[in-house]
Amino acid sequence: MGIAIVTGAAGLVGAHSVEQFHALGLDIFGLDNDMRRFFFPGITSSDGTRARLESLARYRHFDHDIRDEAALNALFEVYGQDIAVVVHAAAQPSHDWAAEQPLTDFSVNAMGTLLLLEATRRHCPEAAFIFCSTNKVYGSRPNELPLIGLERRWDLNESHPYFPHGIPEQMSIDGTKHSLFGVSKAAADLMVQEYGLYFGMRTGVFRAGCITGASHRGAVQHGFLAYLASCVATGRRYEVIGHDGKQVRDNIHAADVARAFVAFFQSPRSGEVYNIGGGRPRSCSVIEAIDLFEEAFGKKLDREYVPQSRPGDHIWWISDMGRFQKHYPSWTPRFSLKSIVDEFAEELRG
Ligand SMILES: NC(=O)c1ccc[n+]([C@@H]2O[C@H](COP(=O)([O-])OP(=O)(O)OC[C@H]3O[C@@H](n4cnc5c(N)ncnc54)[C@H](O)[C@@H]3O)[C@@H](O)[C@H]2O)c1
Repeated sequence: MGIAIVTGAAGLVGAHSVEQFHALGLDIFGLDNDMRRFFFPGITSSDGTRARLESLARYRHFDHDIRDEAALNALFEVYGQDIAVVVHAAAQPSHDWAAEQPLTDFSVNAMGTLLLLEATRRHCPEAAFIFCSTNKVYGSRPNELPLIGLERRWDLNESHPYFPHGIPEQMSIDGTKHSLFGVSKAAADLMVQEYGLYFGMRTGVFRAGCITGASHRGAVQHGFLAYLASCVATGRRYEVIGHDGKQVRDNIHAADVARAFVAFFQSPRSGEVYNIGGGRPRSCSVIEAIDLFEEAFGKKLDREYVPQSRPGDHIWWISDMGRFQKHYPSWTPRFSLKSIVDEFAEELRG
């Protein structure tokens, strides 16, 4: 069936993608240099995930840095004719970190993506190219929506067109503050679209909100539910930051994201861009999420409220997945919000 290249293979989305493409029968080349350990020292090494993947029959790990053009070209040159799909999930994933080291952030997120696109174009232009983008490409634009403060969450009025299904891809990405992370991802997102539109390659951009799952190694700066779950489990104090803790995210399990990638691979299109998330049924505010975890773990979270909100923090994000579901009607998320929370509780209660 050919080879699937999965960058960021030892990360949350990468590892689920490896497992699902492996189950389809593809050989998997996972590229991951464990740079997450450098981004978030101490708490989030990917060694355990890598070991699990290496037990799969047709998995090979490469410690390549996606910015290493020579290493990428050498790999793609040898195996290009067999590469059927590239799932690009390696990234620097945090706003706060990007502001600390903009050059490194841009080199990984933007330049690394361009190098992969170019290697694909040169050596396997027929391969599907799947890119993990982010809703942060819309910058602070979602915060301009006419939100209403309900008791436990911010929300739109029911008559608003985005109320039932969320925010579609038509939302402008211009004239809004993105954070440096949002810009490095937007640069990559546009380049992936362009390789589809300009060169006719089979590229799909997936703009996610919160991707989650019990294998997520959450950090303060990244991985909302995973970090919250670990605080409830360990008794570590959790800071609820800004917006009265009523900011809303929709959550999607990484396995459901990987299933969307498989659907795209099986029937690829050119230059597509999709919002992907859990939709309204898997949405929760921070304080609603705390309630869910306290109930699942049967214990209280030690929490503190910090009034100053994070720059660029979305007050309300729910993804409209209508475009993807129109193109791939058999796909629908399988994990409910409750099953996501229960999976964390089971994993972390030991
Ligand atoms: N998790 C989320 O909530 C979320 C939301 C929206 C978008 N995304 C996007 O999805 C993708 C995957 O996210 P994730 O949560 O799995 O992140 P993750 O940090 O768990 O995984 C990313 C992996 O990439 C590896 N990596 C980083 N830089 C690398 C480099 N230069 N060369 C090789 N490997 C490198 C890291 O070691 C890590 O294992 C990212 O593009 C992220 O921006 C994630």
